[in-house]
Amino acid sequence: MRFHVYLPSILFSVHAAYGEVSALTQSASKRASRRSVTLPYNCPEGQKFLHQLVDHSTIDHSQPNATGADIWKQKYSGSNATFLQQYVLNDTFYRPGGPILFFQGNEEPLPCLADTAIPEHAKQLGAMMVSLEHRYWGSSCPFGLNCSDFPSRTTHDLRALTLDNVLHDTVKFLKWLKQSDDRIENAPIIAFGGSYGGFLSALLRIHFPGEIFGSLATSLPQRGFQTDPLNEYVFGFMEWNDMVYYDVSVEATAKIKSAMNDLRACLAAGKFQGMKEQLNLCYGPNSTEQNYDLLNWIAGAYLQNLQYNLGIYDYPFYKTINATLETDNPMVMHGAAVKYFNEWNGVNCSDWLPNNTAVDPYGYMRCTYLPHFDQYAAPSSIWGPLLPDYTQKHLLDPMCTAAYGFQCVDGGEQFIRRIGLDTETVQSTDRLLLVENLMDPTTYIGMEFFYPGNQRNNSRVMLVDGSSHGADLLVSMESDSEGLKRARSAQLNTFKEWLGMGA
Ligand SMILES: *[C@@H]1O[C@H](CO)[C@@H](O)[C@H](O)[C@H]1NC(C)=O
Ligand SMILES: *[C@@H]1O[C@H](CO)[C@@H](O)[C@H](O)[C@H]1NC(C)=O
Ligand SMILES: *[C@@H]1O[C@H](CO)[C@@H](O)[C@H](O)[C@H]1NC(C)=O
Ligand SMILES: *[C@@H]1O[C@H](CO)[C@@H](O)[C@H](O)[C@H]1NC(C)=O
Ligand SMILES: *[C@@H]1O[C@H](CO)[C@@H](O)[C@H](O)[C@H]1NC(C)=O
Ligand SMILES: *[C@@H]1O[C@H](CO)[C@@H](O)[C@H](O)[C@H]1NC(C)=O
Ligand SMILES: *[C@@H]1O[C@H](CO)[C@@H](O)[C@H](O)[C@H]1NC(C)=O
Ligand SMILES: *[C@@H]1O[C@H](CO)[C@@H](O)[C@H](O)[C@H]1NC(C)=O
Ligand SMILES: *[C@@H]1O[C@H](CO)[C@@H](O)[C@H](O)[C@H]1NC(C)=O
Repeated sequence: MRFHVYLPSILFSVHAAYGEVSALTQSASKRASRRSVTLPYNCPEGQKFLHQLVDHSTIDHSQPNATGADIWKQKYSGSNATFLQQYVLNDTFYRPGGPILFFQGNEEPLPCLADTAIPEHAKQLGAMMVSLEHRYWGSSCPFGLNCSDFPSRTTHDLRALTLDNVLHDTVKFLKWLKQSDDRIENAPIIAFGGSYGGFLSALLRIHFPGEIFGSLATSLPQRGFQTDPLNEYVFGFMEWNDMVYYDVSVEATAKIKSAMNDLRACLAAGKFQGMKEQLNLCYGPNSTEQNYDLLNWIAGAYLQNLQYNLGIYDYPFYKTINATLETDNPMVMHGAAVKYFNEWNGVNCSDWLPNNTAVDPYGYMRCTYLPHFDQYAAPSSIWGPLLPDYTQKHLLDPMCTAAYGFQCVDGGEQFIRRIGLDTETVQSTDRLLLVENLMDPTTYIGMEFFYPGNQRNNSRVMLVDGSSHGADLLVSMESDSEGLKRARSAQLNTFKEWLGMGA
């Protein structure tokens, strides 16, 4: 069945900056190709499209220069041009008076409902189930572009990729949907999203409270919107990674730390022989100038095996720990970590050299309105040192200037306040459930924990034990941790309470 092939890629990034390791995303240029072979991509429910404006802006900023300076103004002089945006609708569980459960598309082709936790909640709530493909992915491509064809893309082609447009796509789609179906004309909408989609799901509730009744936002970045190389969060991904590795096995982690030092020494001495095969790479290193990139890739494999330690991927972190305990050979250890990483990415070797000039929409978003940094490791960490470039104004400037020709937007407190995701704003928005999974290194750069107060509709942060990136949004599995099972149940009860379905 075709859908098994596609299943693992929901929620997570299709990131075509080939070989770059950014902890929120993966090396997923390869997954992109897996999923785009049969475009137009569709779910079991079949293909449905709506006409969507390419530019929702009502303000005419004629010919602004491409810059990430202000996400809310970063619009271009639009016309009334439209594109077709793909969505999914399934009313199997709908009962009169029930809500709409909406799954917000990510940086990926259309999320199919059956891959998500939506049907389980919809069955209990009598809900209509819908999801929407994110513009610039899958079949939902403005300007007649082919979304799978990255090499032919120019920065100019990406000009309609603004946060404002993305949020308005969803709001207009949902309004249109309600108008086109009498049954759900007044149905309350609960938005779901994970990772970047969690960021969108939260902002939908915050900025469109009249349209979006409540939101579940999972594994969303918040504190990590930082661009300054000196920022305190810069080593956060790897520090969280260290913590979980040590918590799960101090023996395995001590071995990995020593094996990282061995690899570093080998590379520094230019002993590259056999590395391609031993480390499961598509090509071996040739020069010590590539040492940082290779070390970064290997550390990234360990990090992301933890971040994506999910049932749908057969728990690559646990497999890594087990394999480490079974060997004393550093190269065998690293080779196993990369092999598991390759497996869940659906490739048989690692294409590890970064390509900073690839014009992909996810990189564009990071340079304009989603400025989260890459993984860096302090000298004291298991993996370190993998230091940021302290000569840069913004951590992402090398990528932003090489690929798009402009500097990265400024991150930091001011940015977080400007997009409305600061803790004060979040706290004063009700019916917003923010979930961070405790094994997931993204939690370090995720939503700040706050005391929820005593109103049951208040927003709150839910920390989930024994699970990783976006786990609670995926279809449930028997192997889910007890913490994850409890979180799913707590989420359902929260929705019932929001909807006034409690006692
Ligand atoms: C709608 O959702 C139900 C429950 O997940 C599923 O069994 C059914 O196959 C879906 N319908 C279609 C047409 O895919
Ligand atoms: C765009 O940038 C160029 C060169 O920096 C500048 O001369 C021009 O005034 C800018 N245009 C706008 C609309 O800001
Ligand atoms: C877009 O549509 C609006 C309202 O229908 C119309 O007033 C305007 O002239 C149109 N603009 C263009 C560029 O076609
Ligand atoms: C889109 O681009 C991909 C990748 O280059 C290619 O395989 C596919 O045939 C293209 N689709 C269309 C409709 O041109
Ligand atoms: C190293 O050299 C070999 C042989 O010339 C080549 O196949 C390989 O791609 C090179 N690797 C890198 C990282 O440049
Ligand atoms: C890791 O090893 C333990 C103990 O042998 C085993 O129970 C577990 O299933 C293994 N986990 C994986 C993912 O292989
Ligand atoms: C990797 O996969 C490709 C395509 O499936 C295949 O041609 C190639 O032989 C495989 N390489 C290895 C090292 O397994
Ligand atoms: C890097 O990306 C650019 C733009 O997509 C492409 O033209 C180039 O061939 C890529 N370079 C490598 C080494 O893959
Ligand atoms: C929560 O919101 C729902 C719907 O607006 C309302 O019916 C319910 O009374 C609220 N509960 C509390 C405790 O405020």
